[in-house]
Amino acid sequence: MIRTKIAGIGKYLPSNVVTNNDLTKYMDTSDEWIQERTGIKERRYATKHKETTTTMGAHAAKEAIERAGITKDDIDFIVFATISPDYYFPGCGVLVQRELGITKNEVGALDVRNQCSGFVYGLEVCDQFIKTGKYKNILFVCSEMHSMGLDFRTEGRGVSVIFGDGAAAMVLQPTEKEGQGVLTTHVHSNGTHAEELALINPGSHGGYHLGTEQFGYPDPDKYGGVFVTQKMVDDHLLAPNMNGKLVFKNAVTKFPEVIKEALSTTGLISSEIDLFIPHQANLRISQFVQKRLGLSDDQVYNNIQKFGNTTAASIPIAMCEAWEEGKIKDGDLICVAAFGSGFTWGSGLIRW
Ligand code: UT7
Repeated sequence: MIRTKIAGIGKYLPSNVVTNNDLTKYMDTSDEWIQERTGIKERRYATKHKETTTTMGAHAAKEAIERAGITKDDIDFIVFATISPDYYFPGCGVLVQRELGITKNEVGALDVRNQCSGFVYGLEVCDQFIKTGKYKNILFVCSEMHSMGLDFRTEGRGVSVIFGDGAAAMVLQPTEKEGQGVLTTHVHSNGTHAEELALINPGSHGGYHLGTEQFGYPDPDKYGGVFVTQKMVDDHLLAPNMNGKLVFKNAVTKFPEVIKEALSTTGLISSEIDLFIPHQANLRISQFVQKRLGLSDDQVYNNIQKFGNTTAASIPIAMCEAWEEGKIKDGDLICVAAFGSGFTWGSGLIRW
């Protein structure tokens, strides 16, 4: 039976460390509040004009390709997950293809934008392509540069303090080794609360935040065909908004639910998980889920303390770090799960 294995994994974190105290220069917040509510001590911010979502992804991809023991010309498909792309379009898939010079076979490049669940959704997509025999070396890149689009005023502190920049990548290949590889993936969505964690502007709805009187297309006489207006800039409407409490409440329900779905599909139980790598949204969410699943501290990997929430990149960054630290070994059962904007959520079980 053909399954998908992670043949090589790499990561890239910008060198610029931003502590909680650094953020107090811009907004009314404190190290104590951020650590207590989220577990975050510091995060990384990319260097503007030098680093982008694509360049960070390319660094991680080079490491993954090298560790897989292949060359860039062996890559036969690219999948790129991000919600903070270099451009509105084209997506980062073709940009990383150009950056890495994967030009020989002009392979396909697909962009996945499923927010915090981007890794799990992307993994499910790659897994299907590998299992059907369509591709033999998929480059799966997850990268985020949030620092370029956050509201650093006190009004935006509920969102801006949690996000960080970073990238990870992996080469996915078929394996026929008994028991090895991606055992199962599960993805879900419910758009009821789509605007409760969202970057609404600019968009084809042409308006401002839902629920405000200004909703609707900008005055064409005043703004022509552009969908970014001066008013959006003046009103600080070009940054993400989040109903943190609602997201938190849904996350702590859906995380255990979707993990149990993966376990019951495979006939495994939580005590058999060697390492659970949750999306790094909030340390309190991870700890809640750990408790619900009855996992010991040794069975869970968290690094939100150092890197904050890097949405699509958070699981593979943590996976790469855990692997580099020797905390993932051949044969280990790895569980991944995520919840975020959409709402979207998902899980996966991988035998390393
Ligand atoms: O990865 C994407 C998915 N996202 C998530 O999973 C995030 C889920 N939600 C959360 O992690 C939490 O809701 C947050 C960390 C975002 C917020 O924590 P909270 O415990 O829900 O705080 P809150 O938003 O209810 O705010 C409590 C108080 C408020 O003040 P008042 O009204 O009680 O006076 C806020 O204004 O804390 C205030 N506050 C802050 N104070 C200092 C909000 N953000 C900050 C801040 N620094 N950064």
